[in-house]
Amino acid sequence: MAELERIGISLDKDLLVDFDKLIARRGYQSRSEAIRDLVRQQLSEERLADPEAQAVAAVFLVYDHHAANLAEKLIAIQHSHLLQAISSLHVHLDHHDCLEVIVLRGQVAEINRVGENILSMKGVKLGRVNLVAP
Ligand code: NI
Repeated sequence: MAELERIGISLDKDLLVDFDKLIARRGYQSRSEAIRDLVRQQLSEERLADPEAQAVAAVFLVYDHHAANLAEKLIAIQHSHLLQAISSLHVHLDHHDCLEVIVLRGQVAEINRVGENILSMKGVKLGRVNLVAP
């Protein structure tokens, strides 16, 4: 574990009350733990604003498995040399629909481009690209 440094923070009382409620709702053990996560979250979001930053992403999509060639197209995208497809998960939701989660690694701009490509494919009903920059 990295060396810890103690800091003091001044907050308006109202803001602190709201913050403590947030901490309770989310189940944090301490204010310090909550603040660490908020700082990490902000730093990650700032990195994601850079199109050339390295990131990982989970692309979630629900699609109709009767849609022509969609499964093959998804596999072809995962073999694309521009991005590294780390893993994928397939769940047969019901008679029609499948859920697929594809984990990608690469540059932010490339992930977004490929993610949007996937989500706009014919047969994809719902989808989302979740990026993080660890
Ligand atoms: Ni399926």
